[in-house]
Amino acid sequence: GAPVEVDISKMEPGQLIRVAWRGKPVWILNRTPEVLTTLATLDSKLADPVSNESLQPDNSKNPVRSIKPEIFVAIGLCTHLGCSPTFRPEIAPADLGNDWKGGFFCPCHGSWFDLAGRVFRGVPAPTNLEIPPYRYETDNLIVIG
Ligand code: FES
Repeated sequence: GAPVEVDISKMEPGQLIRVAWRGKPVWILNRTPEVLTTLATLDSKLADPVSNESLQPDNSKNPVRSIKPEIFVAIGLCTHLGCSPTFRPEIAPADLGNDWKGGFFCPCHGSWFDLAGRVFRGVPAPTNLEIPPYRYETDNLIVIG
């Protein structure tokens, strides 16, 4: 599979774009400052908050799981049995309610992930969403693969 280039110059805050890489869906999400603030409050609800058991390249092994904090890149396949989770900015896991800034929900067996792809405790998915290898060719051009 060839690397895939993605121009992010036109992305709006909160926008998610989807591309295909090696036959897999890859998501690119432009996270707002409020989302980044919320992510930092979720650790106690997560199965692997610091991603010790989860797959990501070294350049994304940090609390927000990305090279640039606002731009999240992940493989859009559930780590349970491989369904593609849906982007759910509007509904929350039962005990999160008011502070919710969105996440990803896998409809196959009910797994929830936050906007860093980190899995919540007590759902079937065992680990966080995988982060693919990627880099910035320029400030606004991501190369996946
Ligand atoms: Fe996602 Fe089972 S495949 S919860």
